Amino acid sequence: MQVSDMRALRLIFYTKTQRLHRLNPSIPNSLSSFPQFSRHFLHSTPSLHHSNSTAETAPRAWSIYDPAPGTDGNGNAKKPNLDIVGNKKKGKARFSWVCADCGHSDGQWWGTCRQCNAVGTLKRFSEGGSAEVSEGKTWLSPKAGESQPMRLTDVNRGINQLNWRIPLYGPFGNEVSRVLGGGIVPGSLVLVGGDPGVGKSTLLLQIAAMIAERNDLGQPAPVVYVSGEESVEQIGNRADRLSIGADELFLYSNTEIEDILGKSQPLSPRVIIVDSIQTVYLEGVAGSAGGPAQVKECTSALLRFAKKTNIPILLIGHVTKSGDLAGPHVLEHIVDVVLYMEGEKYSSYRLLRSLKNRFGSTDELGVFEMSQSGLQAVSNPSEMFLSDQYSDSEYLAGLAVAVIMDGSRTFLIEVQALCASGSTAARQVNGIQASRADMIISVLMKQTGLKLQENAIFLNVVSGVKLSETAGDLAVAAAICSSFLEFPIPNNIAFIGEVGLGGELRMVPRMEKRVNTVAKLGYKMCIVPKSAEKSLGSHGFEGMEIIGCRNLKEVINTVFR
Ligand code: TYD
Ligand code: MG
Repeated sequence: MQVSDMRALRLIFYTKTQRLHRLNPSIPNSLSSFPQFSRHFLHSTPSLHHSNSTAETAPRAWSIYDPAPGTDGNGNAKKPNLDIVGNKKKGKARFSWVCADCGHSDGQWWGTCRQCNAVGTLKRFSEGGSAEVSEGKTWLSPKAGESQPMRLTDVNRGINQLNWRIPLYGPFGNEVSRVLGGGIVPGSLVLVGGDPGVGKSTLLLQIAAMIAERNDLGQPAPVVYVSGEESVEQIGNRADRLSIGADELFLYSNTEIEDILGKSQPLSPRVIIVDSIQTVYLEGVAGSAGGPAQVKECTSALLRFAKKTNIPILLIGHVTKSGDLAGPHVLEHIVDVVLYMEGEKYSSYRLLRSLKNRFGSTDELGVFEMSQSGLQAVSNPSEMFLSDQYSDSEYLAGLAVAVIMDGSRTFLIEVQALCASGSTAARQVNGIQASRADMIISVLMKQTGLKLQENAIFLNVVSGVKLSETAGDLAVAAAICSSFLEFPIPNNIAFIGEVGLGGELRMVPRMEKRVNTVAKLGYKMCIVPKSAEKSLGSHGFEGMEIIGCRNLKEVINTVFR
């Protein structure tokens, strides 16, 4: 018998059996009850051989059968082919023209991109393109029907909030945890940005090693470190410099997202690290790696993977010249956490701050030092900006200590002033806003009577720190007075307070925290605004004297006696 004849026979036979069966259920519906047919079909449809269920067997074997036009398999009226808003669904694939440079999409072809004006960059894409990619990859396209609204109590049941996060150990781990708001949250997507060479790869390799060596259960856990920028040998070389020998740390050099995730998933990693989002690409998406469309789609794919598998992904992101994260802004919206690593060019200190955190405060700051063996936590960050020469300040006029806050951290910084009389009345400021410095100098001249107008004044903040808080005003004024009066300020005095135009001292936020830090570092005296003295007076500050002053005149009379 010809194949086409067999198909025709199948169709006729099945249609008849179905109709008979519907009229009289006692009539057998299974092919296996017709030996002459079962002999023919058992090979081509093996499922029939094993199945006993008639209801199951028939539709699977006869998928070409359409029971009746306008009805479904159970005889119910068929739903019209409409989408959720009632528009008729389009059966045909639609195409759009997407710019390979900027990702702009247009309904028709143009010689130049109407968004970025690039010539000849428009490429034709099927609108269902990303769906094609997702076929067979459950993490790429979550099926809406699979999840259901859940009660909050059901969601939280069985989750121990204390053991939920992946903990990081030791001083380095504590510093990273501080910024993350705890350990790494399972299923989260964390983006780490920063200037080239600041230490992003080093930071994430150290985190990877820490988890690979000892996870929350005290057992090593697999971690995959994927780099699109470096070869596995280069990463291995860095790991060697950092004395990392974790057995469970897997290195992989690739740039294709599907391949990266496909090969990582079977290892059941505790964490995946991708260095960097600008080097990876997703097949079927317009543009080259690092382009807006690729960055957006790759991040979305990584997010879906993380949420689906509960494996957290730490991503490295480049920054542009202006210091923003490279790529579309939507990138920062997609990820759960955005961390930013910063450091001065000639300083070994690195600050890690959080710009966005869905699982904690953005007020935290991690302080590290880049050493020969990688990033180390700084043991006492509050005094790291104080210069060594400060111990000589009993002999040096023009130095004063200010107390500033960055996030929830307190730092003591040293302000230097030099008043050179007789020279042209030039002003140079470094690390202080010029307009603020001008204001403080004018207030000193007008309200305290200091004859600063015939002096060239130089102001500097030690260690390249930028003094952007008004809490540092009093220290700036004190440093100028000290230099002008050639009266060194004893090195155990700190200054906190804002200076007003009338020369009055004003309160600044978080006075207590600032004063506490000063006291802990062994200072003997802290000059604060009078209004703060009362509220601070009730607290014990380890024997440190707190002196409240109403205005700059009082400060001069107290300190430069
Ligand atoms: P890297 O992590 O490669 O920076 P990024 O990924 O942000 O571009 O770090 C680069 C710098 O860090 C490099 O200039 C050398 C320095 N470094 C050290 O000082 N000590 C070390 O142990 C390591 C690994 C790097
Ligand atoms: Mg790097």
